[in-house]
Amino acid sequence: MNLLEQKKQLRKTIKQQRSMLSKADRTKMSQQINQFLDEIPEFNQAKSIFCYISYLSEVETRPLISAFLEQKLSMAVPKIIGKTEMLAVPLTDLSELEPDKMGILTPKTNQAVPDPFDIAITPGLGFTERGERLGYGRGYYDRWFANNKVKTKIGVAFELQIVDDLPLEDTDMPLDILVTEKRIIDLRSHS
Ligand SMILES: Nc1ncnc2c1ncn2[C@@H]1O[C@H](COP(=O)(O)OP(=O)(O)O)[C@@H](O)[C@H]1O
Ligand SMILES: [Mg+2]
Repeated sequence: MNLLEQKKQLRKTIKQQRSMLSKADRTKMSQQINQFLDEIPEFNQAKSIFCYISYLSEVETRPLISAFLEQKLSMAVPKIIGKTEMLAVPLTDLSELEPDKMGILTPKTNQAVPDPFDIAITPGLGFTERGERLGYGRGYYDRWFANNKVKTKIGVAFELQIVDDLPLEDTDMPLDILVTEKRIIDLRSHS
């Protein structure tokens, strides 16, 4: 199997496993993940945060986004434009979002934030303890990380999404911190 096929197969397997979690379990584990995120010191100093809007069986981010908005942090959320590009669009209230073609809640405008971000909270399908990431197959986050400055890239996932090894390409961007319902995995070398 070549690398692209390996990625495809693994996406399918992990997606299937994650979809077997009950809504109640997902909510409970997402709350635990949110609590772990709260312990990460970077959030105390963060002024700007990019965070995905959870869809289907992903780690839920709605409560997180609400909390960030209440803290008056400068928030931005993803907007997919075409087959390759993702923009970071400012968000001041969850009511500004509406479902896109896929049913994913999305900002209406295409106005991208040009500034760097202190933190980006990133979804994905598979992750390793080394911070490697397998996304949904279009490389949106890989490209966005390649073109946008983010101080701390944080991946969130359920423990079942952590695998020993991932098929990887040079363009696959690794994370700085990975958070599951069981642990915080800090991949940065502390000097
Ligand atoms: N920065 C980039 N520039 C150009 N192509 C990229 C970049 N990042 C990823 N790609 C390409 O996008 C495609 C999808 O990337 P892939 O890593 O498989 O998806 P995902 O990260 O969503 O799982 C691949 O063909 C990959 O080579
Ligand atoms: Mg990738």
